[in-house]
Amino acid sequence: MPRVLITGVRGKTGVPLAALLAARPGVEVLGGSSNPSSVTLGGVVPTAFSWDDPGGWDAAVEGVDAVFLVRPDRPDAPELISSLLTRIPTTTRIVLLSERDVDSFEPGDWSVRAESAVRESGHPWTFLRPSWFMQVLTDDRFYRGEITEHGRLPFAGAGASLAWIDARDIAAVAECALLDEGHDGRVYELTGPESLTLPQTAAVLTEALGRPIAHEEVTADEAVSGLEGFEREEFVWTLDRVSDGVFADVTDVVEKVTGRPARTLAAFAADHRADLTP
Ligand SMILES: NC(=O)c1ccc[n+]([C@@H]2O[C@H](COP(=O)([O-])OP(=O)(O)OC[C@H]3O[C@@H](n4cnc5c(N)ncnc54)[C@H](OP(=O)(O)O)[C@@H]3O)[C@@H](O)[C@H]2O)c1
Repeated sequence: MPRVLITGVRGKTGVPLAALLAARPGVEVLGGSSNPSSVTLGGVVPTAFSWDDPGGWDAAVEGVDAVFLVRPDRPDAPELISSLLTRIPTTTRIVLLSERDVDSFEPGDWSVRAESAVRESGHPWTFLRPSWFMQVLTDDRFYRGEITEHGRLPFAGAGASLAWIDARDIAAVAECALLDEGHDGRVYELTGPESLTLPQTAAVLTEALGRPIAHEEVTADEAVSGLEGFEREEFVWTLDRVSDGVFADVTDVVEKVTGRPARTLAAFAADHRADLTP
């Protein structure tokens, strides 16, 4: 019976991935979290896993056949990933949640080094490189409050487009990469089915929610206000990548891997109407 560890089971991709894996007969799903008592997903074994507690890693990875590795957004992520992978037999498959178009970074950049840590570990690996998640729109830590309370989407878009992806589709690709053959050594650039400017994004939300949602162009400085340290730095470089058009291109990888088309933003908004309604 395959045993799979999801390192970030409470996260945007972790939750739908856990549901998909738990529905597969004969798969044992370990739901990794630094707060395992908050893991209440059906068919998932809450598992203590914290990047801050290497002492707990051996127990978390014991006997696992595959790991869904959510890259921790912190400066020491490459070193932490390397260190974790030395604790796992090299027969265990690793599926890394990375980010879009890592090849466009400089060789020594953080995102590149995070992938290299996996590539050089000796494990079979698959990299998932998703565009912006639609779930940032329903996340209280991102845009949900602005949309529900003020009907606005403040975003430093600089006229660029984003091929938003539903994290449920990232999870569907991850499920295949974790359990099926043919994905080792593959790099999957994942997007939704359409590229939308920020005003177009707001228009889709307006239509789906039945009330006006307006894009409000803000500066990058305004967008990162309140953030500090690495989180701020990472958001700044992500917004630079938005304006460079890195997130604009659409790929067909979700459909090629899963056999189903990627979900549209309209479908996502319809499914999450309650979450986005005051
Ligand atoms: N968001 C995007 O649009 C996007 C796009 C491309 C790539 N990525 C990458 O994907 C990875 C995941 O990023 P993410 O922003 O989407 O994070 P996330 O998956 O939503 O959450 C990551 C971690 O935060 C903790 N967490 C989740 N929900 C929580 C909650 N309700 N309350 C408190 N803590 C919670 C969880 O860890 P614990 O259970 O241990 O607390 C979780 O594993 C990152 O490497 C990121 O760079 C993100």
